[in-house]
Order: sequence, then structure tokens, then C-alpha cells
Amino acid sequence: MPKLNPNLFLDEEFEVYADRRVHRRAGYKPNHNPKKSPDAAIYEIAGDAGDELNFSYNASRHEREWIINSLGGFYDQQWFDDVLLLLKGGKEASVYQCLANDTTGTDYLAAKIYRPRRFRNLKNDHLYREGRVRLDEDGNEIINGGMHHAMNVRSAYGLQLLHTSWIEHEYQALQILHAAGARVPVPYARGDNAVLMEYIGGANMAAPTLNTIDLERDEVSQIFECVIKEIEIMLAHDCIHADLSAYNILYWDGEITLIDFPQAIHPAENRNAFRIFERDVTRICEYFNRQGLQADARRIAKDMWTAYNHRLTPDVHPGLLDGDDEADRAYWQKLVSED
Ligand SMILES: Nc1ncnc2c1ncn2[C@@H]1O[C@H](COP(=O)(O)OP(=O)(O)OP(=O)(O)O)[C@@H](O)[C@H]1O
Ligand SMILES: [Mg+2]
Repeated sequence: MPKLNPNLFLDEEFEVYADRRVHRRAGYKPNHNPKKSPDAAIYEIAGDAGDELNFSYNASRHEREWIINSLGGFYDQQWFDDVLLLLKGGKEASVYQCLANDTTGTDYLAAKIYRPRRFRNLKNDHLYREGRVRLDEDGNEIINGGMHHAMNVRSAYGLQLLHTSWIEHEYQALQILHAAGARVPVPYARGDNAVLMEYIGGANMAAPTLNTIDLERDEVSQIFECVIKEIEIMLAHDCIHADLSAYNILYWDGEITLIDFPQAIHPAENRNAFRIFERDVTRICEYFNRQGLQADARRIAKDMWTAYNHRLTPDVHPGLLDGDDEADRAYWQKLVSED
């Protein structure tokens, strides 16, 4: 299992969490009974969440604090009894294997905790942000002008809002796709900084990502068809993964599970949607080409896209364009002159 590099957990990364306990919203109900169904309601981490949480995973001091702040509410709500293992600590998120509470009816849960470092990359994510609504901590679209301003100027409050919106997008994508019957981890609950979902793998080993697997010859085309079917289910539900590759597909017992959805976009609400969609399909085809299967990514992407009545040339809503941006103005001129 990968070991956490302690240097990844620098103090500055925890600045956002330092005052978290103070800022938690009122309304925490320690005695309410959590639902344990996959369609469970959204739970909040609040109050002195996680004060009792003591776990066996051997974390550094900062990481321990970070885990308690991020997962304490879930612990209080008896989703899990222990944090067992860091499955993967990356620059965007860390995912932990948790021992599920008996009441959940499952053995393990995966807890994905998002890192504040993500904030620093937000400048580069305009490709995905376009047309995406910003979501608040209850999963509703943010309409408050002051909140939008805070996000636009990247104040500390604005960054926190963007962070929440990012997590909400992942959680909602999982909910929608799970309800649609897609092969994604069952989303159980989300908090300020983490999502609790179905754990894919066994007691001693989490499911590896597909990029680390060499498929048996006789399963290559079947798994390929499976992935293509998942892409189609997503498109049918107005969802493009937008970071799809063999790195974001888990493989376990001959089955695949798609993961990692915070950047997912709507096909009709982003000018670059087809380009992003085609890139997803291309990355998948590249992996399967290496497994000996010939697939024409461009054709597959185009056929699927048009089958769902999406236009190959973007139909831009003027609201997506920034009048002060030279590139946007040129783009608009081009569209107008083409009409
Ligand atoms: N539900 C799950 N069950 C088992 N393992 C999981 C699950 N979700 C994620 N993982 C593991 O955690 C890793 C990171 O998860 P994910 O891809 O969602 O986050 P990420 O933002 O891409 O993080 P990173 O920057 O580390 O890639 C996955 O590659 C996988 O190994
Ligand atoms: Mg990933």
C-alpha cells in the first residue's frame, strides 16, 4: 500500500481547518438516527464532531487532526468505527479505508477527504467550470451575489465556497449516476470536506486502478464494452466525467467501477464539452489499444455524441461569454459571422 509522504501534510495546508470547529453551523443533532440506506440523506459535520474518534491508522499529528475534522461527524453518526488505512494520498484528495459500523450492512467504507491544495489549482479549471452552477453546502445552486463575488475574487470565504461546491458536484454526480444504475461507488454521505462511499476491494487489498492491470485476452473486449456503456449511461444523464482514463476506473473481480467525479460537466452547458468528451473516450481507447483492442476513439465519441442530439459545434449561450475577454469576443464574432 502506498505510504503517505509526511511532507505532503504541511501546516499551511491545514489553515482552512484550523477554525473549523468554531465555524461549524448550529443545528447539530447528536441523537438523530442516521439512515443507512444508499440513498441516505446528506449529513453534516458539525459541532464538536469526532471528539471520540480514535482510530488505528497510524497518522502523523496533522493528518490525524485533519481526519478527525473531516470524518468526525460521520463517526458520530455511526457510519464507521475505525479508520484502517490510507488507500491513496494524492495532491487532490486522500482516500481511506474505514471499518463500517454494523448498522451499515457492509464491511468497509471509502472516505475521500479533499485537500485544500485544490484551491491553488482553481485558476486552471476554467475549462470545467464554464456553465457549471456553483453549489452550496446543501447542494443548492448559489444565487447570492455576495457569495459569487467572494468566489470570483478568491477571498478565503470564496475559496471555502468553491471547495464546498467542488465536493457537492462529486457527491451529486455519484448520486445521479448511482440512481441511473451506473457502476460507481454507492454514495453514502457527504460532509464539509469529505465524501463517504462504497469501498471497492477486499479486506486486505483495495481494488487497483485499471491502468495497473493487464487484462486477460478474453476479457479485453468485454471490459471495453462495459466502459463504453458507462460512458453512454453518463451521457444519457447529462454527465461527462471530464477526467476519465484507466486511472479513474477501479477493477475488482472482473468488474469495473468509475470513480473521481468532482470535475464532471454537463454536455450542453460547456463550450468545450465535445472536446472534453472526446478526450475521455480517447484516453479509454488508448488504454484498450495497449491491451490489443483496436478502437476508433473519434468515431465512437462522435457517434455517441450525435446519438444524444448534442451538436458537434458548440451552441454557445451568450451568458457563458465574458464581454471583457478578448478571446470570448473573438469567439462570439466568429459564431455570429458563421450564421
Ligand atoms: N470507493 C473506493 N474504493 C476503493 N478505493 C478507492 C475508492 N475511491 C478511490 N479509491 C482509491 O483512491 C484513489 C484516489 O481516488 P480519486 O481518484 O477519487 O481521487 P483523486 O482526486 O484523483 O486523487 P489523486 O489526486 O490521488 O488521484 C483511487 O485511485 C483509488 O486507488
Ligand atoms: Mg483520480
